[in-house]
Amino acid sequence: MKLLLVGATGLVGRHVLTLALADPRVEEVVAPTRRELTTHPKLFSPQVDFDRLPQHADWWQADAVICALGTTMRTAGSKEAFRRVDCDYPLTVARLARAHGTPTYVLNSAIGADASSRLFYNRVKGELEQALTGQGFDSLTFVRPGVISGHRDEFRLGERMLVMGLTLTGPLLPKRWRLNPAAQIAGALLEAAIRAKAGVHVVSSDQMI
Ligand SMILES: NC(=O)c1ccc[n+]([C@@H]2O[C@H](COP(=O)([O-])OP(=O)(O)OC[C@H]3O[C@@H](n4cnc5c(N)ncnc54)[C@H](OP(=O)(O)O)[C@@H]3O)[C@@H](O)[C@H]2O)c1
Repeated sequence: MKLLLVGATGLVGRHVLTLALADPRVEEVVAPTRRELTTHPKLFSPQVDFDRLPQHADWWQADAVICALGTTMRTAGSKEAFRRVDCDYPLTVARLARAHGTPTYVLNSAIGADASSRLFYNRVKGELEQALTGQGFDSLTFVRPGVISGHRDEFRLGERMLVMGLTLTGPLLPKRWRLNPAAQIAGALLEAAIRAKAGVHVVSSDQMI
């Protein structure tokens, strides 16, 4: 299969890329990024500006999209800028891929995604899921992790403290609230993309511990 991966330079995206390149079921990975990736015979990585994505590139046609794009409020600097990365870009990618005939979309969403939530983060994730549901994909999967663990170059104090706390208390917590290792999430994303089961599906945090 041919996989279109966005967010390939991120914590989860890097794991998806590694798994996909090693998986014999995946023949080609197209990973549009703004930063260069290490070359690999199965990988095509066009350099793009997500504000000006090419409308007619033939690489939009794939068997499945995996989206692991995202930012933080701190990096984005404003709610508007956060929404652009966490909602507008994933939706634009979906529209372009769908317009070019890609039948399957798998989103790295988040636990608590809910378009009617009072929490801005959960609301943005929920609005994105809702908007994606209307794009006409044959197979659509929302993978909803809780707190993600794994090595991150960037230092995020709050997240680091949460990960430490959950590492200590994890065994005592309900499965839903335990840490989700990035590699587990990546596995769930890739399996959903390859299986491409018809309809809309959710993979919840307790399935990725
Ligand atoms: N952190 C958590 O505990 C947690 C929990 C639940 C759900 N999530 C969600 O899971 C998803 C993946 O998380 P992650 O931790 O793997 O993300 P991450 O490490 O922050 O990676 C985000 C990806 O998005 C890209 N990106 C960010 N801003 C961009 C921009 N302006 N233009 C183009 N690309 C941009 C990054 O590219 P560059 O490398 O070029 O910056 C990177 O590839 C996110 O949607 C996040 O909200 C996170």
